[in-house]
Amino acid sequence: MKILHPKQAIIALDFDSYEEASLIVKNLNPEKFRLKIGKQLYSNEGPKVIEKFNKKGFEIFLDLKLHDIPNTVYKSLKNLFNHKIWMTNIHLFGGEDMMDAAVQAKRETQCETLLVGVTVLTSLNEDDVKKMGFGMGISDLVEILSFQAKKNDIDGVVCSAKEVSNLKENLGKDFITVTPGIRINEDKNDQARVVTLKEAVKTGSNFIVLGREITNSKNIPKMIKKVESYII
Ligand code: C5P
Repeated sequence: MKILHPKQAIIALDFDSYEEASLIVKNLNPEKFRLKIGKQLYSNEGPKVIEKFNKKGFEIFLDLKLHDIPNTVYKSLKNLFNHKIWMTNIHLFGGEDMMDAAVQAKRETQCETLLVGVTVLTSLNEDDVKKMGFGMGISDLVEILSFQAKKNDIDGVVCSAKEVSNLKENLGKDFITVTPGIRINEDKNDQARVVTLKEAVKTGSNFIVLGREITNSKNIPKMIKKVESYII
């Protein structure tokens, strides 16, 4: 079953140190996988960790989900864009002025880094969103945030694979979708906003983020081989 394009799968390096992350990365081919550096690794290692994995040939998704006033997001992105980053993100709950400030930082730096926006975290379910005071379902909320993102020239969104088909239909195929919350083994019980790898690819999701399905597996190299066997 060859369903994944090379580098469509992004491996989340949710570790404290470069050394720990390297134990996984040594099993990965940069021609086939990209890496995601999130808050956990970045807050301990700083920007040098980006450079270290770049040197090994990997493209980096820096997942810091920036969420702050427009000026702070603008200035932080101006700093981050000095590094070689393939993709990074802001949180769309920061509002349209913040989205605009983020895009301005990208334009001024003239970098090619893809800038995507986090819609609703895949860890949240309908009940959580209701309790937060939103008077609408998750898919409507994701759609509204995505429309705002597109209007402000953000390249795409982070969402659940469950929302991809709708977004592609309403916002166009070129609007990028990045989908975490993916399961590889298809025999597990279903849960809110979690989708199997096969289903996620079928929806047309551009990039698939794989985290604990790989990092928590008992035999990591075997799990990586399994994902590799899906790559065209
Ligand atoms: O371990 P798991 O496959 O659930 O990995 C999820 C990864 O994706 C984590 O690094 C988490 O920070 C990230 N994530 C995200 N956006 C979401 C949900 C998870 O970026 N909506």
